[in-house]
Amino acid sequence: MTRPRTGIAVVLNAIGIAVSAACAHPVDAPAPDFTANGGSPVGMPGMTAPASPPPAQPTTSTAAALRPAAGIAVDISNFAFAPATLTVKVGDPVTWTNHDEEPHTVAADDGSFHSPGMGTNATYTFTFTAPGSYGYICTIHPFMHGTVVVTA
Ligand code: CO
Repeated sequence: MTRPRTGIAVVLNAIGIAVSAACAHPVDAPAPDFTANGGSPVGMPGMTAPASPPPAQPTTSTAAALRPAAGIAVDISNFAFAPATLTVKVGDPVTWTNHDEEPHTVAADDGSFHSPGMGTNATYTFTFTAPGSYGYICTIHPFMHGTVVVTA
């Protein structure tokens, strides 16, 4: 459907480096949820064990970790996409949710996807099948810009 272009690939790499430098895991953790990294073994096993009683939070962390696997979310709020630039992998479904009172759309610059008008709390999901940098706008408010960078 979408033709990869050499120029876009260069931009894609530049964006990827910039994002990587700014944030540790933009791909796997779209939301700044620190509990998502709680599973990584850092060390110090047992040192803080006596200080705090074992809470029942591991179950909550597991449940929260399952949400990103089902899709990656972009919020539409106050006439803006958040995050405005999102990096995903091929095959990742991206879901936009309109939190505004006003209707919005999500339309790719290259026509690869185009949502219908989305009312309040409506969602639109698109699964990217080819690497590239996909700019998109809200056709109702063309000043609303977003980009999804899809990596192989
Ligand atoms: Co709009």
